[in-house]
Amino acid sequence: MTPPTEDTPEGEMKLSAERMMELAELASRLIVERCERLPSEPAWRGGTRAELEAIMREDPPEDGRPAEQVLERAAREILPVAGRVDHPRFFAFVPSSPTWPSVLADYMAAGHNIFQGTWLGASGPSQLEMVVIDWFRDWIGYPETGGGLFTSGGSAASLDAFVAAREAAGAPDRASVYMSDQSHTALSRAATIVGVRPERVRKVPSDDLYRLDLAALREMVAADRAAGLAPIAVCANAGATNTGAVDPLDTMADFCEEEGLWLHVDGAYGGFAILSEEGRRLFSGIERADSIAMDAHKWLFQPFETGCLMVKDVRRLEAAFSVRPEYLQDTEWGLEHPNFGDRGLQLSRSFRALKVWMSIQTFGMKAFRAAVTRGIELASEAEAWIRASDDLELANPASLSVVCFRFNPRDPDLSVEQLEALNDRIQARVIDTGIAMMSSTRLRGVYWLRLCILNHTTTWEDVRTTLEAIERFGQDDLDRE
Ligand SMILES: Cc1ncc(COP(=O)(O)O)c(C=O)c1O
Repeated sequence: MTPPTEDTPEGEMKLSAERMMELAELASRLIVERCERLPSEPAWRGGTRAELEAIMREDPPEDGRPAEQVLERAAREILPVAGRVDHPRFFAFVPSSPTWPSVLADYMAAGHNIFQGTWLGASGPSQLEMVVIDWFRDWIGYPETGGGLFTSGGSAASLDAFVAAREAAGAPDRASVYMSDQSHTALSRAATIVGVRPERVRKVPSDDLYRLDLAALREMVAADRAAGLAPIAVCANAGATNTGAVDPLDTMADFCEEEGLWLHVDGAYGGFAILSEEGRRLFSGIERADSIAMDAHKWLFQPFETGCLMVKDVRRLEAAFSVRPEYLQDTEWGLEHPNFGDRGLQLSRSFRALKVWMSIQTFGMKAFRAAVTRGIELASEAEAWIRASDDLELANPASLSVVCFRFNPRDPDLSVEQLEALNDRIQARVIDTGIAMMSSTRLRGVYWLRLCILNHTTTWEDVRTTLEAIERFGQDDLDRE
């Protein structure tokens, strides 16, 4: 038998204070060094299943190994083989760039092992979640009745919202839900999970700027009512993932009021743009929505699993989720003491609000407003660069922090398929060379490259370098033909 490690006597897992400190210092050093190296490293690294099986596949060891080795192995072999979503030139999908205090908050909350499901379980953390949620309520412009909770992300937030919408509508049998053809699939999936049949998750066409077409929505709801369906909710995009499009929130709110429908705004990607002037302008009317999903792990610079759902009248959320089992009877402390487990799907919850609180306490709102605004400004500078380029073609005007475009030398001999293949090769080369990470999408079936600029450390230099590389790789590719 292998002897026990020097850390613990055999069969025990508690470490001495000295060892805990040594290991925490090593973990911190490994993370900080990684953050320092990040800008000069590729924005993405991946491995094939075969490569990674060879490195990681093993049975769980019977006897422990030296903790330093375990930490260093994680930092060397596992954690770097991933998208560096917080890299200044990671423009793919929706980036996430946490600030250091928010990372430390995750560590602090885990170290205190907070159970954030009931007031009894975590009064201080519950009070702080109320404080941070009330900050969000004020940013949105919700009345005092407004409230919400932190969730794992936008998918969970929309699921919770649809449960509240369904219950508010009296849980009808033939429920239908409406969203634009640009809405995130998280929403259609959430709607089906709450019991809306897939064919009654209705996709409303979008206009030439990818915003929901209100006239089409009106017609669909009327036709569905006539056919015996029971519309329960309409979803609006406050930043569609594809293009950053913002639906006409105010007029959609008018329509939902007329029709007695729940209006849910999906601001998972774009919601925190409310902190910028442009966001406030685009989101006019957002405070009229019954519910709003906003991911702080996207545009509020938090680590993953910092989503949030806000509801204009939080009692509707509690009416939908509140449960009173006998084994939790001690946790009933009255209205003054909300149990966050009564506002959504999770009873066992981590203390997410601490991340937002610690980072805002450390840097202040001015810094956050400036960082959110910078994402919008960089997208608009990228748009101007693309418009001025002979080789690049803009798909549509940048909206919030998303720009869609492609390399297009306007050669009439190039077929649509050739152009798509060319852009596909350019994208692969940008990623392979490690210059940047960017993704592609399709708008009305046409292939486009897409930049989502969301990182508080990204500079114009990062964006320009990426656009120049795309132009250069496109030209190289044509020259080789
Ligand atoms: C607009 C939008 N809605 C919903 C989601 C899903 O959110 P999450 O991945 O946090 O569950 C995303 C994710 O990128 C999104 O961009």
